[in-house]
Amino acid sequence: MLEVAGLAVAYGELVALRDVSLHVKEGEIVTVIGSNGAGKTTLLKTISGLLRPRAGRIEFLGEGIDGLPSHEICKRGIIQVPEGRKIFPQMPVLHNLQMGAYLPAARRNFAQSLGRAYALFPRLNERRSQRAGLLSGGEQQMLAMARALMARPKLLMVDEPSLGLAPKLVAEIFNTLLVLNQEGTTILLVSQEVRQALELAQRAYVLENGRITVEGSSKDLLNDPRIKAAYLGL
Ligand SMILES: Nc1ncnc2c1ncn2[C@@H]1O[C@H](COP(=O)(O)OP(=O)(O)OP(=O)(O)O)[C@@H](O)[C@H]1O
Ligand SMILES: [Mg+2]
Repeated sequence: MLEVAGLAVAYGELVALRDVSLHVKEGEIVTVIGSNGAGKTTLLKTISGLLRPRAGRIEFLGEGIDGLPSHEICKRGIIQVPEGRKIFPQMPVLHNLQMGAYLPAARRNFAQSLGRAYALFPRLNERRSQRAGLLSGGEQQMLAMARALMARPKLLMVDEPSLGLAPKLVAEIFNTLLVLNQEGTTILLVSQEVRQALELAQRAYVLENGRITVEGSSKDLLNDPRIKAAYLGL
């Protein structure tokens, strides 16, 4: 579904990604793990068209998408839940969800998508008229995910959904990702919650200093002594 080959991205002099190659098959959950500053957010922003690669190729459903504007990439079905949630705090919950459905195809399915979002996150329904900025951190993450779902993603890219959340909420968010995947959404997850991400995903890539250093099935990575030492505190 998604094929990234030889990707290089830089911020001025600072090279943030070098020769990054990865793929995601339809129906998979794939995770990219790595520590602070490894380049995870840069990778997702580049796939979304928010950053331009210096080199490399990105294909989605068999077509090149690198260089396309971000709204064009959204239209093709790649939707990102950004790091830090980036909800609209002054707007009510419902308006935030409407913002997610601004593309014509999504607008046509608005009622159905809203029903699904509220079924997944009943608390958003209870608080639909409340200003989003008043939601708890966990509820804001739910809102960011629900807003992305309103766009009817084929590939949902989620950047650090667990940031700053209590363990119980992290488990809830990860469980929701599993449900979404079982309902047919392909997921690319970036996370510092390495153990939980590996338990959720089928395959994983380790990003270190802008390079992919390890890739494989999540099961193999969970048993890899290097991963255990560097990321699982074992
Ligand atoms: N807008 C920017 N301008 C300059 N440098 C940047 C910019 N954004 C990120 N960087 C640098 O690029 C590198 C990769 O950053 P990135 O945000 O992709 O890391 P990350 O893996 O998402 O980290 P974290 O886990 O902390 O979110 C870092 O060295 C960072 O300082
Ligand atoms: Mg990041």
